[in-house]
Order: sequence, then C-alpha cells, then structure tokens
Amino acid sequence: MRRIISLLAVLALLLSGCGTDKAPTVRVGVALYDQSDTFISTMARQLQQLFQEEEQGRGIKINLSLSDGQGSQTLQNEQVDRFLNQGYDIICVNIVDRTAAAVIVDKAQAADVPVIFFNREPVEEDLRRWEGAYYVGAYAEQGGRLQGQLVLDAWREDAAALDRSGDGVLQYVVLEGEAGHQDTLLRTEYSIQTLTAGGMEIEKLASATANWQRSQASARMNQWLQQYGDAMEAVFANNDDMALGAIDACLSAGMTVEELPYIVGVDATEPALEAVRNGTLKGTVCNDAAGQAKSIVALSCALLDGEAPESAVELEDGKYVWLPYASVTAENLEDHLKTE
Ligand code: GAL
Repeated sequence: MRRIISLLAVLALLLSGCGTDKAPTVRVGVALYDQSDTFISTMARQLQQLFQEEEQGRGIKINLSLSDGQGSQTLQNEQVDRFLNQGYDIICVNIVDRTAAAVIVDKAQAADVPVIFFNREPVEEDLRRWEGAYYVGAYAEQGGRLQGQLVLDAWREDAAALDRSGDGVLQYVVLEGEAGHQDTLLRTEYSIQTLTAGGMEIEKLASATANWQRSQASARMNQWLQQYGDAMEAVFANNDDMALGAIDACLSAGMTVEELPYIVGVDATEPALEAVRNGTLKGTVCNDAAGQAKSIVALSCALLDGEAPESAVELEDGKYVWLPYASVTAENLEDHLKTE
C-alpha cells in the first residue's frame, strides 16, 4: 500500500505541474516458469504488448522485466527476490512448483508488493495468506469437458469414422502434461468423464506424461504405435504441443493423414491451428492467452492506481479471475481466427 501511495503521490505531483517533466516509471516483474513453453511464450508476448499499450495510453513509463525460471523453483525464487530487492511495484508469477507459493506470498507481503499468479494455480491456502495475492487462469475443468465434447460430437456424427475396429468401443490413449499441474489433472478427468456421461463405451489403452512437450509426446507415441498400432483410435493430449508430437510420430511411422487416429489438444497455439487447417489435428480448445494477459494487465493497473481490483476485473472470492475456454475445429476455425 505504502508503495502505491507514494507512486500516486509522484503522479499527483506531476499532474499538478510541480514535478519534473520526466514521466514516472513503474516496474513490473514477470517470472515465467519456463520461457521455452509454447503457450507461455505466447502469453509473455501478449503481456509485453498490452503493457506497452498501457504505457502509451497513460503517458507513464512501464518497465517490464521478464525472467525465465527454466523449470527450477530455486532459480525462480532468486528472480523474485531480485524483483523485490530492486523495488518493483508489482510482480506476476507463473510459479514453477504450484505447492511452493507460500514463500513468494510472504516475501511479497513483507515488501508490500502485490503478486498476481497466473496459469499455474497455487494451492488456495497459500493464496489466502495475504490479501495482496491473486490468481488469473482458465477453468481447467471446462477445458477438459470441451475436449471430451469434441470427440463425443464426432462419435455421434459418425462413430464408424473413429471406431476403426468396429467394436462399438473407442480405444484411446492420453498424453498428459506435467504431473500435479491443475490442467493435467482436470483436463484428463473431465475429458474422459464427458465421454462416459455422453453414453460412449470407451477403453483406455495407455496414458503417460510428456510434460507438455512435443518431442516427449512424439517419443511416447512412437512406443505406443509399436505396441498398439491401429488399435489406438483417439489421442487425448492435455495440450497442443503434445498433440502435435503424436501427429509427428504417426506421420513419421508412415501413416497418411486419413489413417491418423482422432487427435485432440488444448491451447489453440498457432501451429495447432495450422494442424486443424490441414486436417491432422481434429480439434483443440482455446486457452485464452490474450484474455488472461488482458486480465493480468487490468488487475495490475488497478492495483498500481490504488483502485479496487473489482473495478477492473471480475474477481471471485476476492482472489480469482477465471477465463473461459472455447472449442476450435475445422468448422469454426475461420471465425475463431477473426476473434483473435
Ligand atoms: C497450460 C497449457 C500448457 C502449458 C502449461 C504450463 O495451461 O495448456 O500448454 O503451457 O499451461 O503451465
């Protein structure tokens, strides 16, 4: 609070003409869990662009600094310490280890610097340690349901196209994201639950983690191709990069596009949308990077201005900003691209 009040005081001075004519500067630190992650790098780009627009619109200088945790919580803690020691005004944290938020919340509280977690949801107890801690993310459960619905709809429309064995049962595999990630747990659970709730008979052949990564997914799919071959009728990938990895493996094993199993992902990254267009990826679920980035920026600005966060974003339980998912298939691809 003190920091925000002093920032406002500087702004007031400048507006009343008593300050120097140098634009005031606010500093925003964004700690990414791993900058090489496709979806996260998209979010980082959106954040950079939106903060830049905010800077131009407000006539102030916003110093945005991104750090790459490279998958290490120890490294990320050091990066957060640096932001706090250097007097940053707000920090946005894409935490490496979801169970390790307490340390960061406590440090932010001690420095009186608001902290907005995003994409990797901290345990609620940690978030509740301080009123200045928030979370911006997408409804993982809804993402799972929509992914399941893509397959359920296709099955209802033309079961024979998916059920290559003709036994009335959909044989499937799951490529999972990092263990313990809320999106891995909930997308997996609710995509499959949507099929059974829709009355489909299903059989899981295998599931394994590929840590959100295309190359790991491709290696895993390669093994499964040797083990199960054509028996795999559908592939549920917790994200698009892994769905693309599955497609890579099938194509390099010599399958034609028509022979591919029914593969679905989540995120709607650019390469995934291209794969929907060329028919290798049957569908994806848009994880709204732009919407999440917009909410982070709106919330940051409200906090920096000392305004109630509720005035800028829809806040649940005083802590959470939730963004919806949306399905993307070849049918609505063009419409989806227009809304981006
Ligand atoms: C998920 C996204 C994945 C990966 C992960 C990182 O929401 O679907 O592709 O980026 O976040 O936390």
